[in-house]
Amino acid sequence: MPKRLDLPSDFRWGASTAAYQIEGAVDEDGRGPSVWDVFAARPGAVRDGHTGAVACDHYHRHPEDIALMQGLGLDGYRFSIAWSRIRPTGAGSVNEAGLAFYDRLVDALLEAGITPLPTLFHWDLPQALEEGGGWLDRDTAYRFAEYAAVTAERLGDRVRAWITLNEPFVHMVYGYALGIHAPGRALMLDALPAAHHQLLGHGLAAAALRERGLQVMIANNLTPVRPATDDPADVAAATAYDALHNRLFTDPLLLGRYPDLSAFGLAEDLGGVVHPGDLKLISAPGLDGLGVNYYNPTRIAAPTDPGLPFTEAPIEGVPRTAFDWPVVPDGLRELLVGLRGRYGAALPPITITENGCSVADEVGPDGTVDDPDRIAYLAGHLDALAAAVAEGVDVRGYYTWSLLDNFEWAEGFHQRFGLVHVDFETQRRTPKASYTWYRDVIAAHWASRPR
Ligand code: FCB
Repeated sequence: MPKRLDLPSDFRWGASTAAYQIEGAVDEDGRGPSVWDVFAARPGAVRDGHTGAVACDHYHRHPEDIALMQGLGLDGYRFSIAWSRIRPTGAGSVNEAGLAFYDRLVDALLEAGITPLPTLFHWDLPQALEEGGGWLDRDTAYRFAEYAAVTAERLGDRVRAWITLNEPFVHMVYGYALGIHAPGRALMLDALPAAHHQLLGHGLAAAALRERGLQVMIANNLTPVRPATDDPADVAAATAYDALHNRLFTDPLLLGRYPDLSAFGLAEDLGGVVHPGDLKLISAPGLDGLGVNYYNPTRIAAPTDPGLPFTEAPIEGVPRTAFDWPVVPDGLRELLVGLRGRYGAALPPITITENGCSVADEVGPDGTVDDPDRIAYLAGHLDALAAAVAEGVDVRGYYTWSLLDNFEWAEGFHQRFGLVHVDFETQRRTPKASYTWYRDVIAAHWASRPR
């Protein structure tokens, strides 16, 4: 039995997924192609040529998946809406069948007593918009707000809280700077406009949501940045990296300005990309919550290559996940306490919108999946979260990544992050030991709730 965590009685428990990673049904009911369909079809782009064409077939199996959520006792479920189901070309006509799917999903969740928490953009840009420049083009932000308005108009009577973007940092770096993710562009620092245009899209979409009386959040990938040594060159490199990974996506929202990016040779207007009034829109008051996706800290040393003002250094002496990511639970406490220190009263309540680990899980001969490493990962991070709350950080909920094993982007089906094992040949779902463990954590906390 897990120990009862000392968290407020109204703390909310959830699990997260994303559309392209679980839905499949890419050609059904009028869905238009997204950048991920096109990217995954490119030879060599995704490990072993895997694609999300079927993924977990959640589009058809969502009743079974909602039953699994109910079995966990989840308060909330974070999923993403596929823009190209709602507006197949990103602009132009609205696809009724796409809206109807999310309508049914929301109704089924509510019927199961689970609060839906949709993310409007989790990296699957309609391909037609990419052909016009994608997030490098300012217009994409306006198209995003239109799609947000249409979707909120339809679901806003039942869905109160919304997440605009998922991890604009990772999308910019992997998608536009390095080309490891869709749309597969390797522009290095010329990818920076994709940061501003995503944030502008957030600001415009947030206004559309607020007009309808809805709550607005954003989910950022944040990492505590540690200099490799206390050598001033390493410290300066760590400061530069922190500005790029963390502050670039949080300062504009909470402080209304971009951080100092001079180490990257950039002025505050990012080379003319920022128009007058943009930052006012991005930082409009009333961000109801900051979603924090945390996986690991980052260790940074002075640059070895003249192109960038930092280099990443390995974190030694800690366990590693199947993805080779270092496991440092206290990094979550460090991150949360650091955010409060940095932003003070400007920091809205936090929800952990992703946290979890990949394990090379297999179904054993007795039909069960034993994943002690995942349980240890989650337990350590929940303890770190409780420690941050005890230090006064306002954290309202925890959504683990992920409910199901799924299509892990460039890694295809090789990295399993789920509480539920998915056999991608048969679509059979098998709850892992961590599923039962998480269910018991939630139940123990529920027992502390006032009746
Ligand atoms: C995050 C993504 C999520 C998933 C996890 C492992 O960066 O938001 O979709 O891939 O990593």
